[in-house]
Amino acid sequence: MQRRALITGVTGQDGSYLAELLVSKGYAVHGLRRRSSTFGTERIEHLIRGNDPCVELHYGDLSDASGLARLIRQIRPHEVYNLAAQSHVRVSFDQPAYTADVTAVGTLRILEALRDVQDDTSEQIRFYQASSSEMYGKVVETPQKETTPFYPRSPYGVAKVYGHWITVNYRESYDLHASCGILFNHESPRRGETFVTRKITRAAARIKLGMQEKLHLGNLDAKRDWGFAGDYVEAMWLMLQQPQADDYVVATNELHTVREFCELTFSRLGLDYLDFVEVDPRYFRPAEVDLLLGDATKARTTLDWTPRVSFQELVEMMVDGDLELARRERNAGGDTISQHRMVA
Ligand code: NAP
Ligand code: GDD
Repeated sequence: MQRRALITGVTGQDGSYLAELLVSKGYAVHGLRRRSSTFGTERIEHLIRGNDPCVELHYGDLSDASGLARLIRQIRPHEVYNLAAQSHVRVSFDQPAYTADVTAVGTLRILEALRDVQDDTSEQIRFYQASSSEMYGKVVETPQKETTPFYPRSPYGVAKVYGHWITVNYRESYDLHASCGILFNHESPRRGETFVTRKITRAAARIKLGMQEKLHLGNLDAKRDWGFAGDYVEAMWLMLQQPQADDYVVATNELHTVREFCELTFSRLGLDYLDFVEVDPRYFRPAEVDLLLGDATKARTTLDWTPRVSFQELVEMMVDGDLELARRERNAGGDTISQHRMVA
């Protein structure tokens, strides 16, 4: 029988890679999409268009409990991947209550829907929760692993801690097959344009082509463990194939600064970042996460998962993608960026 999967956040970076992976494995893939005044489906156009679309989209929102319950009853998925979230850390300081409602309580709404439908189905529905290294925040040990205590430093991090623990609680209380992937930062050419890596590669490509003069950034000394999103969605799927649900850190165990990301990006384009990057305090956060470094030993030994794309390859992939995009924009004679001065 063909397995059915439901992905919330299917229009996002990870949702698009996960949908591709599940389609390639023969799943019937369903995705939750929010209503918006624009399409918002750029990352998955190739999966939803044509006579025989690979992914079926349904309108819904993590704030709408009854809609989520109805959808889960209708689809009866074998696997549910909860990737939807207000996922921007800086924005969560501006919209803390909204972030809590969607990123924290939204997870509970899905778990409640699963708990209800689970009672009248013979097969156990498997659930994946997108937990985050941001939960470690002001880290109490390095590298961080599954047993490291959380110390979140943003409304987003706090909301993710709730989503994490409520998932563990439903696993223990109602025998749900519910797993949390504690994923460290992962990027790609499909990364949202206000996250720092994509902001850098996008701006550097435009600077190279004379379409932009400067790049304004915040804390250049922040250190992160950056991997490739395409590798990380494989770990999500592997977690749901295990006989027992559990929680796993997914990371590369390599540390780099924002400054290093700038250096590599600009040098790929034959430029020196010092000539173009300016620090703008408006991009500093009320509370910063200085360092995140993950120990993915458990994922490696239990799931047989390892990252394939190196840091250097990731930077090159993103720079090359954004150079191509900037060329297309230039040739079209337009400037499609409207968010230059957004503080994020
Ligand atoms: P993303 O690109 O920002 O995608 C977020 C997705 O959530 C989008 O599809 C978005 O829809 C959807 N969404 C937002 N609010 C919603 C709502 N109220 N109802 C329904 N859908 C909603 O994020 P990502 O990088 O793919 O990350 C996927 C998940 O992993 C997120 O939960 C994120 O917090 C978590 N995570 C990410 C990383 C990382 O480094 N990327 C690391 C750890 C954890 P629109 O397209 O309509 O905006
Ligand atoms: N966004 C942004 N914009 N970040 C900047 C900038 C800037 O102009 N300048 C410096 N930074 C620094 C931030 O202060 C932070 O320390 C670091 O770059 C990374 O910022 P982001 O790329 O926005 O990612 P994040 O680490 O805050 O959050 C991402 O990773 C989490 C996992 O740890 C998001 O994808 C979260 O959803 C995810 O959970």
